Amino acid sequence: MRLLFSVWVFLLFSSASVCWCQETASPEGLRREAALPNRHRFVVEDIIKYCKPQKGFWVDLGAGRGQLTIPLVEAAENPVVMLDPDEPAMVAGLRIAREQGLEDRLFAVVGVAESLPFPDNSVDLLVSRGSIFFWDDPVKGLQEVYRVLRPGAPAYIGGGAGSGFPQEATDELIRMRVEQLEGSDAARWRRFVDLRCPKQMDQWAAEAGLPQYTVMGQGAISAGDPRVGQGVWLLFHKQQKK
Ligand SMILES: C[S@@+](CC[C@H](N)C(=O)[O-])C[C@H]1O[C@@H](n2cnc3c(N)ncnc32)[C@H](O)[C@@H]1O
Repeated sequence: MRLLFSVWVFLLFSSASVCWCQETASPEGLRREAALPNRHRFVVEDIIKYCKPQKGFWVDLGAGRGQLTIPLVEAAENPVVMLDPDEPAMVAGLRIAREQGLEDRLFAVVGVAESLPFPDNSVDLLVSRGSIFFWDDPVKGLQEVYRVLRPGAPAYIGGGAGSGFPQEATDELIRMRVEQLEGSDAARWRRFVDLRCPKQMDQWAAEAGLPQYTVMGQGAISAGDPRVGQGVWLLFHKQQKK
């Protein structure tokens, strides 16, 4: 039976929690990156490969306009709930999904990672791309993700282009970022790169007390890990009850 066409927008919105994507990087630099091929569908391929998710309750955390959510619902026959503090972005995502005939598979909840409005042990897959670097408290956010996952369910959190992203485009992306590190906005780009590194991801995961996890990727200016290509990702599963 088709799902009802419904949108769940819970007004948990707080203007203080809105965090614009460009805060730690040069808007000009990011505009140049946007000219490269779209990266999200390659990340979806990695999600399916590494998470092997069961059907059920899927969440895209920090979904924005659904840049990752929409290719994910297209690739997998499962609805996805977007969660983000940026309500207008999600409204735009819902509109795009409707234009593509996906309105019965995409839903939206306004909220933040640090206080997920979901029950314990309820989520079958949680993905998050390009968002943890903007959370006020990434450690609390990871603890919340762990709380809401069902036992055995996976989370895939980080940022990057995906292992199948074309080599030429990967090289160009990294070249542009390295160039930014020398430019007039170098300090913000340094912060951008430093946040998106395996050491930082490992530190957040350890501080969150995740019992087991894998950090993949070598960061924002490397594609040295063929498992994920350019970027850095944290993969973990909630422990099964004994
Ligand atoms: C760079 S955008 C990523 C959008 C999309 N996931 C993508 O892959 O293109 C980062 C998103 O994280 C959201 N965000 C910022 N702080 C957040 C928080 N504390 N909890 C959840 N999402 C947050 C922002 O509103 C923004 O939509």
